[in-house]
Amino acid sequence: MKRGFRLTSIWRLISEMITVHRNEEVIKEGLASIIIPRLELYKRPDGSIEPAWMPVFYNPHAIVSRDFTILFLRGVMGDRDFIFLDSLGGSGVRAIRIALESNGIGIVNDIDPRAYYYIRRNVDLNNLRDRIQVYNNEANVILNNLVFTGVFLDYIDVDPYGSPIPFIDSAFKPLSKRAYIGVTATDTAPLSCTYPNKTLIRYWSKCIKVDFEKEYAIRLLIAVLVQRASALEIALEPLLSFIHRHYIRVFFKTERSAKKAYDIINNCIGYTWYCKNTLEKGFVKTPEEASSITCYDGSSPILLGKTWICSIEDVETINKLVVESTKISWLNKETVKILSVLKNEVDVNKPYIRLDKLCGLYKTNIPDIISLINELKSMGVRCSRTHLDPKGIRVDASHEILVNSILKLSLRRI
Ligand SMILES: C[S@@+](CC[C@H](N)C(=O)[O-])C[C@H]1O[C@@H](n2cnc3c(N)ncnc32)[C@H](O)[C@@H]1O
Repeated sequence: MKRGFRLTSIWRLISEMITVHRNEEVIKEGLASIIIPRLELYKRPDGSIEPAWMPVFYNPHAIVSRDFTILFLRGVMGDRDFIFLDSLGGSGVRAIRIALESNGIGIVNDIDPRAYYYIRRNVDLNNLRDRIQVYNNEANVILNNLVFTGVFLDYIDVDPYGSPIPFIDSAFKPLSKRAYIGVTATDTAPLSCTYPNKTLIRYWSKCIKVDFEKEYAIRLLIAVLVQRASALEIALEPLLSFIHRHYIRVFFKTERSAKKAYDIINNCIGYTWYCKNTLEKGFVKTPEEASSITCYDGSSPILLGKTWICSIEDVETINKLVVESTKISWLNKETVKILSVLKNEVDVNKPYIRLDKLCGLYKTNIPDIISLINELKSMGVRCSRTHLDPKGIRVDASHEILVNSILKLSLRRI
């Protein structure tokens, strides 16, 4: 019975491959040329591509994630050669771009035989046989096996369907003494508390719905990954974090050092305090610190966590990315747009505030966001927009100062 089922599924795979071969196209992304099954066969009725239906995964929208991977690797690696592993390769496009657009040589792996077939063809198409080796393995298996080969990696990419948790502990193991890791999470629903029970079992956080759920999601993901790595005496520090469409992407610097891991956990893992009625929020290291905070309406804040309370971006890294972005003509417009916001956002390590929600509370118009930022800056307050929400701002000022500035500008508009 079982054998019959296996044979049927293998036959289904083979016949699917035969059909797919007749319907292929070559697309260009960055410097890479990629053979993929014809995209238009996998369109939803609304015209959007559904990559999960394709026999080999290629998501055109994830171009932004891949652009940032290239910018990041060029920025942090500079001119030096480095060894990478793309553990969940899909069509191979990310690994091929790394080899073509930076100094990476490495391995690309995928568990799916159809993906393996396409990756090999794509590597050949781009003449990269001497720079990329292709494997058809389970990601945890290849990551753990690498530890025993003595090949330590300078960069590991973990780009799964859904949560990175099933792969992340293995991904830390073959990292060299100082390295980098890029992680995607598409399970934004549990990370942003749409399913609190899932949030608890997967990310160990008791959560409630908040008005800054994207911030909550990024910081929760970082906190959990940092803590898992520290258990292996590896220090993780986020250098670049963003959300685009349905996924969170974080790039970390990693170092094998129990002392550094301790310092990071000790300084950067804490809690977010949150006032449900007034939407005030901020970070504290300990619950005791939060006990002295009173919300504007006199109530006590709720504590959420554990969360990453240090910056989720690194100024120096963002500056390097900005320089690299001027050298690359093929970046997607959205990549450039997100980077231009991150450049300012990096200065203000405060959870963002949604102006539409706050103005709703005070029953006032939403002021022009640029005018509000200028008004606050004229008072010496550090503030910026956030790429996480078009109506969000990060402000390093008291609730009173922010609300007074909003009311002043809103009145002027009436
Ligand atoms: C989101 S796609 C990767 C996309 C690719 N990184 C890119 O940038 O286009 C995830 C891939 O992981 C592969 N995969 C899923 N589970 C896996 C596992 N346990 N081990 C290795 N590969 C796996 C799937 O076949 C799929 O191709």
